[in-house]
Amino acid sequence: MTGPHERILLRGARWVSAHADEGVHDLVLAGGRIEGATPDGPVDREVDATGLVGTAAFVDPHVHLRDPGFEAKEDLASGLAAAAAGGYGTVVSMANTDPVIDDPDLVRSLRERAAALPGARLRPAAALTMGLEGTRLSDAAGLVEAGAVLLTDDGIPVANAEVMRRAAEWAAALDVPIQTHSEDPDLRADGVMHEGEVSERLGLPGNPAAAEAVMVYRDAEIARTTGARVHIAHVTTRAALEVIAFFKARGAPVTCEVTPHHLTLDHTALADYDPIVKVAPPLRTPDDVAALREGVASGLVDCIGTDHAPHTRSEKRMDLLTAPFGIANLEVSVPLLYERFVASGDWPLARLLELLQDGPARVLGWDAPRLEVGAPADVVLLDLETPRPVDPATQRSKAAFGPWDGEVLRGWPMRTFVAGREVFARTP
Ligand code: DOR
Repeated sequence: MTGPHERILLRGARWVSAHADEGVHDLVLAGGRIEGATPDGPVDREVDATGLVGTAAFVDPHVHLRDPGFEAKEDLASGLAAAAAGGYGTVVSMANTDPVIDDPDLVRSLRERAAALPGARLRPAAALTMGLEGTRLSDAAGLVEAGAVLLTDDGIPVANAEVMRRAAEWAAALDVPIQTHSEDPDLRADGVMHEGEVSERLGLPGNPAAAEAVMVYRDAEIARTTGARVHIAHVTTRAALEVIAFFKARGAPVTCEVTPHHLTLDHTALADYDPIVKVAPPLRTPDDVAALREGVASGLVDCIGTDHAPHTRSEKRMDLLTAPFGIANLEVSVPLLYERFVASGDWPLARLLELLQDGPARVLGWDAPRLEVGAPADVVLLDLETPRPVDPATQRSKAAFGPWDGEVLRGWPMRTFVAGREVFARTP
């Protein structure tokens, strides 16, 4: 690991972005920024990046880091280290902690603590309503001033449409995006998986696809009428994507994300009652999965959000009705998506990069991460060739287990730099 002020020469990687393949050249990081292809002074360190593909480190608009309050599941140090190991340079943390991030001082404290840690850069989200209770609006202006980049009650749907409308009016005035957890709470009820033939066969309470489509319609209509930028988190159904397409076609400021798990798993994964694949919203039907992939290919889907949702191993060993919702996936998402969709020939590499760089930046209203001279030196070096198994023993997250353990994938991040500092190096 290196300090922030070193001059580092990355030798011989092939440099790519969503827009260009620049071919093989050297790249120099100095003073936290991209210096260029040749060093402007003495080099402190050289990294042999021959055979690797380099690109701007990724942006994840949706992670649960559990800090403060649930540090047995994850904390800032482990979560930001896991993000760096996953190739991410910047992550947006959700507000469903204890205490809930509904106070500007909590936003400031998260930012200060994270800035002192070696890992991905943290950009916290803050709650839309006090205590995520869905009734009283949070101090949006104060939270944004403290550094919150997104307002969201994620984890819990905002049941009251009037509350969502007022929140959207504030968000529009402040020009900050809202992220929604769009599930109708009454339709979702106590469903633990997708309502359909598999839930009926297993005898488990189901969460119908309509729970999502109904709420996405409400939230998108609120975006259209208030002008607020509304980002629909973790879309899972064909019907919800159709609603989003309808509103996008009418110019509503709606964006959406899909998760790696909803793109790669369907409700049959629940067949042996394993809570590791219990997640909210639930894994859906193969037709829904096909719709998500079509949405990615067509450009309807704006970005990937991991919804990294770590829980302890013992919580996820409880029975399926009791175990908490969530899949921890920060460290496996990029190789999983690369192997399944890019190496398979379904998507060009540029589309995956767009979903991990330009897409999330656009959703958040940021400049897209780029390796231009003078830009922040947030860089990831990927090995697109060597197959490696998903190995929990090497993971940084406290929730080092998941549905893909043991799978052999390509596309692993080998080194990640944030502001010119090496925050992750994989032992080959
Ligand atoms: O599965 C989930 N887990 N979905 C959410 O929306 C929240 C998350 C959590 O916080 O565990």
